[in-house]
Amino acid sequence: MTINNKMNAMTEFVSWFRSVAPYIHAFRDKVFILGFGGEIITDAKFVHFIHDISLLASLGVRLVLVHGARPQIQLRLNESQLETQTVTGMRVTDPASLQCVKEAVGRVHHEIAALLSMGLPNSPMANAAIRVTSGNFVTACPHGIIQGVDLMHTGKVRKINAQAIHSRLEQGDVVLISPLGYSPTGEIFNLTMENVATEVAIALHAEKLIFLLDTADYDSSDTDKSELLPRELTVAESNLLLRNKTPEPTPLLADTIRPWLQSATKACEMGVTRTHLISRHNDGAILQELFTHHGIGTMISQETLQTLRKAKIEDVGGILQLIEPLEAEGILVRRSRELLEIEIDRFTVLEHDGSMLGCAALYPFSEEHAGELACLAIHPNYRDRGYGSHLLKHIEKETMSQNIYTLFVLTTHAAHWFIEHGFNEATTAELPPAKQNLYNYQRRSKVLIKHL
Ligand SMILES: CC(C)(COP(=O)(O)OP(=O)(O)OC[C@H]1O[C@@H](n2cnc3c(N)ncnc32)[C@H](O)[C@@H]1OP(=O)(O)O)[C@@H](O)C(=O)NCCC(=O)NCCS
Repeated sequence: MTINNKMNAMTEFVSWFRSVAPYIHAFRDKVFILGFGGEIITDAKFVHFIHDISLLASLGVRLVLVHGARPQIQLRLNESQLETQTVTGMRVTDPASLQCVKEAVGRVHHEIAALLSMGLPNSPMANAAIRVTSGNFVTACPHGIIQGVDLMHTGKVRKINAQAIHSRLEQGDVVLISPLGYSPTGEIFNLTMENVATEVAIALHAEKLIFLLDTADYDSSDTDKSELLPRELTVAESNLLLRNKTPEPTPLLADTIRPWLQSATKACEMGVTRTHLISRHNDGAILQELFTHHGIGTMISQETLQTLRKAKIEDVGGILQLIEPLEAEGILVRRSRELLEIEIDRFTVLEHDGSMLGCAALYPFSEEHAGELACLAIHPNYRDRGYGSHLLKHIEKETMSQNIYTLFVLTTHAAHWFIEHGFNEATTAELPPAKQNLYNYQRRSKVLIKHL
């Protein structure tokens, strides 16, 4: 490696490390639930997954791991030459198969705990000292009789002891939960990992529920299929997808993804801030999803009453009401009604429950793959609630979809706000030439640039 290459690599490393800092701050002390099936445990990449979990724990994320054991249970049933009946996709767990379930789940549970206890020097687990805790946190009840068939020890979650889990998390433990639940009558029930993870996330009001999908349809190395679900979905969009009611050309939802999306959507509807579906086949998927702007899987978030949309000609009056006081104070450049009408397509507006809270405009400079963010304004009564950040994020996304990778802004009053949102101070010489010619030296606006 030449000295130049080494220097470039170091610069990239430093800028990458700095770029993850906001995520590290945001995730500290937040509760994340990770749900994964038994398949991942047999994968050679599982040890990397454990390293990633250990890293998250060391960053102060409060982690609850919910594991499955389907393939291990099947193997154990095969060894015992036991055949089980399934009803609507659910396995009937009779007393003999329950024995196999207990053995298989117990083995998987201990294997995960052992891996989390590793601390070999010269490995990512050195000095990790993770304390793994388990317990009877899940109360279960029988699924009952379906289509005339008693599912016996196949159960569902009845209650989660959220207080007990929270107190373990507060002590810095990683909580490991198996897909077995116990009833007040002392019975054991075979549950699905998805059911347990979703109910735990809801009960703990988790910040995130993350499912590691096994389905090959979701392998992001397969670029065609990874487009099966969009990168982001609101609960409403997700429900439309689940009902196969999205407009063409969205492909129909694959049956392999449906149950995961159902669980993820339910969790969001019940108060979990965000759920993520990512592929277990992708090494480092969790880190990529959590610590990069674009992520790698699909994120489902709660519906909000606020809407961001392209401005229409009828919005001109509302935008004028918003920006005229700021123009009078010299914070924004004056725009006439006529100019606004001509440029209305450039504007995005933020509405909440029908009233206009904010606006912003994007002026592209296609040749330079750059864009100017202008006229960003939030109604004074609604500031400091994250609306400005939300609008900016939306514009950034839109910008990238238009092949614009540099966003700049000229501001007289909000330089610090933009710097806190990843912009850097720049000189007028760094602006596209057409903009340099229009720069108003009397306003002495600060030039701020963000490379997306
Ligand atoms: C700048 C503006 C868009 C921010 O909108 P917002 O919805 O209040 O912003 P957010 O809620 O996302 O962020 C709030 C945080 O930014 C800080 N902030 C708000 N305006 C700021 C400013 N002008 N300079 C520095 N920090 C500012 C708040 O103090 C708050 O900080 P905190 O989280 O530490 O408490 C809004 O203040 C505004 O409309 N300003 C007038 C118009 C303007 O200057 N536009 C920019 C030129 S294009």
